[in-house]
Amino acid sequence: MTTAPDRTDRTGRPDAAPRTVRRIAVIGAGPGGLYFAALAKQLAPERDITVFERDGRDDEFGFGVVFSDETLDGIARADPRVFAAISAEFARWSDIDIRYAGEVRTSGGHGFAALDRNRLRAILRQRCAELAVDLRYRTPAPPVDRLAAEYDLVVAADGIRSGTRAAHPESFRPDLDERHCRYMWLATDKVFEAFTFIVERYDFGVLQVHAYPYSATRSTFIVEAAADSWHRAGFEALAARELARGESDLASVRRCADLLAGHLDGHRLIPNASRWIRFTTVRNASWRHRNVVLLGDAAHSAHFSIGSGTKLALEDALALAAALSEQPTLEEALAGYEAERRPVVESTQRAAQASLEWFETIGRRTGQGIDRFAFNLLTRSRRVTYGNLRARDPAFVDAVDTAFGGSPGVPPMFRPLKLGALELRNRVVVPPLATFTSPDALPSGFDRAQLTGHALGGAGLVIAGMTAVSPEGRATDRCPGLWADHQEAAWRRLVDAVRAVSDTPLGIQLTHAGRRGATAAPGPDGIGRPLAEGWPLIAPSALPWDTGSPVPHEANDIQLTAVTADFAAAAERAARAGFDVLELQFGHGHLLSSFLSPLTNRRTDRYGGPLAHRLRLPLEVLTAVRAVWPAGRPLLVRISASDWAPGGTTEEEAAAIGRALAGAGADALDVSTGEVVAHQRPPYGRGYQTPFAELVRAATGLPTIAVGAISGFDDADSVLLAGRADLVAVGRAHLYDPLWTLHAAAEQNHTGPGARWPEPWRAGSRKPPGPNADRVAPRLHLLREPPPPVHRRWSPDLP
Ligand SMILES: Cc1cc2nc3c(=O)[nH]c(=O)nc-3n(C[C@H](O)[C@H](O)[C@H](O)COP(=O)(O)OP(=O)(O)OC[C@H]3O[C@@H](n4cnc5c(N)ncnc54)[C@H](O)[C@@H]3O)c2cc1C
Ligand SMILES: Cc1cc2nc3c(=O)[nH]c(=O)nc-3n(C[C@H](O)[C@H](O)[C@H](O)COP(=O)(O)O)c2cc1C
Repeated sequence: MTTAPDRTDRTGRPDAAPRTVRRIAVIGAGPGGLYFAALAKQLAPERDITVFERDGRDDEFGFGVVFSDETLDGIARADPRVFAAISAEFARWSDIDIRYAGEVRTSGGHGFAALDRNRLRAILRQRCAELAVDLRYRTPAPPVDRLAAEYDLVVAADGIRSGTRAAHPESFRPDLDERHCRYMWLATDKVFEAFTFIVERYDFGVLQVHAYPYSATRSTFIVEAAADSWHRAGFEALAARELARGESDLASVRRCADLLAGHLDGHRLIPNASRWIRFTTVRNASWRHRNVVLLGDAAHSAHFSIGSGTKLALEDALALAAALSEQPTLEEALAGYEAERRPVVESTQRAAQASLEWFETIGRRTGQGIDRFAFNLLTRSRRVTYGNLRARDPAFVDAVDTAFGGSPGVPPMFRPLKLGALELRNRVVVPPLATFTSPDALPSGFDRAQLTGHALGGAGLVIAGMTAVSPEGRATDRCPGLWADHQEAAWRRLVDAVRAVSDTPLGIQLTHAGRRGATAAPGPDGIGRPLAEGWPLIAPSALPWDTGSPVPHEANDIQLTAVTADFAAAAERAARAGFDVLELQFGHGHLLSSFLSPLTNRRTDRYGGPLAHRLRLPLEVLTAVRAVWPAGRPLLVRISASDWAPGGTTEEEAAAIGRALAGAGADALDVSTGEVVAHQRPPYGRGYQTPFAELVRAATGLPTIAVGAISGFDDADSVLLAGRADLVAVGRAHLYDPLWTLHAAAEQNHTGPGARWPEPWRAGSRKPPGPNADRVAPRLHLLREPPPPVHRRWSPDLP
């Protein structure tokens, strides 16, 4: 804390900023604005706080709001009176019901509390009145610059369409991402007993409902549809009429009631300013403009499917009020508020983004059976996982495990999978991890050590790193190749050496690096710089990888024919060297990847232009390799399913590429993304590439490998059980711990055939006891409380 020592009030509480921040204007009496006003006044009663609200005191908008236990703890400590008032009104339950394809599945142990949004506002309004906050209803706020001149601080809690944000775009630098799904907030007098997801298929597509109880008589009922379903259902025509502020689109409400009648049991849908809207994710580069600060929806929004809008606004209010008391100056208080809240908000927004994208693309999953669909839905934001669902409700996860074809309790990653004629003992792959230790283009001693280590480490399949099909196809001057007899013999010796200690299947990745060739091995920053004296590069078009990279030659027909022949010859050598699996590198901006992407292929001949032409060379290569690679041995292709740059490969194209590769004989697709152009902007984060594995899997019916930041076994289990992919590739985590897979088995107390320890290491197959393992805890409760029930349903009659 940076508070100066002489600045404490009677209670010893830091009292610095209140001296300078005496007059505060709050724009907006939503939950965020009201809660901030109450807390800021409670902490420093001498402050003058005025709240401007354009609507009337008793105008009611919205329905129920949901809270998690975490937020409630914060509210309980910050203001017990508010907490007592809102808790008295809570509907509480722990179940999530998923209604899909005429069936229902229930997952318990979650913990929800909800109340009427208007009651929440009334309680906060009452608290503000007790504390003598000046509340001005039906009073639009004066222009923000005028307020900023008159008050020490202006808190803009003016909602998702914030006028304050729009007044100073140069400071806030907003990014408004409007999504394509349409949704409508409604209530119903059917009182659901649990959080209820309804997913219904119609001839026009899918409708989904997010419903939850919030009182003894009402539930929130949000209807949502992807843009194409919404159009085909005819909602556009119903919604065409211009609506006045506060008016509802009654024709659409009636149609929703008809379509969803089977879930309403004769109850009504109750509109309140209800109309189709598109969700906008609000982000701002800064939340501050001089003495003006954004709070709640004005600063950020998170899709309603993870129920966080009101919760985030209240947490912001708490953090801002605290910062004003904790920090010595207004500037530090606002900076401290933003620094504290931004990481929390961004983490919530990442989860919300994954969740909204899941619902936008729900049609991809509606072929799944109810159990896996339910599991997929619950794990969509990546916050809920196999492990924590199992801890909350083991019976639910056992049922999904069984539906996945395994015995309950066998973690999904330790189930076998047949690929071609090859039986993999589990679902974990060590992806290609180049070692850059081959100045002579031969596999090195380090390659041998790495592949042996990984083969002993428990994964079901280990793939050797990129290996060039020709000298000019090397990415770096320290990459191995497979274009000559002596290289084939060296790989053969390496495979034999690994085989001597392990029967783990081994694969090799073949590549031609194209315009990404002729670099030095990557430095500590992961970037390989162009060699001063490299070799001539070929590419679909004469476009350099980056500024400072050499300009490649546009490959001619003779060169392209040679590339196909080189791949086929190297594949034959790989088969003779004893590899069980072959992977072709059609991703990461290497030669075949740059033929696929519209950003790197500008050709006008039969190898460029529409996707069918851009696919021509990759398909020629795949067909030639398929013809020589032994039939039973799996042939994989790695792709970059997104370029993460405007104008790059679209989702539809990624699906079409997958289908074309399936048609040309690929047995499975290893779905990566990016590295196609240097100006890419990937949204790195846990499992960020996994949705593409799911997309390609749904489009092709082929097994897919998900890869990228899947580092925890819990994530691996979740991806597999949800049916997002059939295999998970875990790269860097296997460099951190070559025995990652076996350690994942030990952590999960699993000892089945999918997790086989090397016999000489068997004594080490249990996790070593920790430093406090011999400490035994005494009994500290006279009577132990029974554990809470897994299933708790909302009933107004229960306490
Ligand atoms: C139609 C609708 C229904 C919703 N229903 C629910 C629901 O049932 N449950 C739920 O959890 N979330 C609901 N939400 C989302 C939820 O309202 C927000 O996430 C949450 O309220 C954010 O709180 P806030 O205080 O930041 O902003 P808001 O609650 O949006 O409050 C902003 C306030 O600022 C006022 N305002 C704006 N401009 C001015 C101005 N110039 N002068 C004076 N006042 C101004 C507005 O009238 C409004 O009262 C709903 C949103 C909408 C749009
Ligand atoms: C040191 C290193 C070398 C790599 N070499 C290759 C390679 O040769 N071919 C390839 O397609 N990907 C290569 N990759 C990418 C990985 O296969 C994998 O896609 C990536 O690391 C993401 O997975 P992770 O988050 O589990 O590490 C390499 C990654 C690392 C860290």
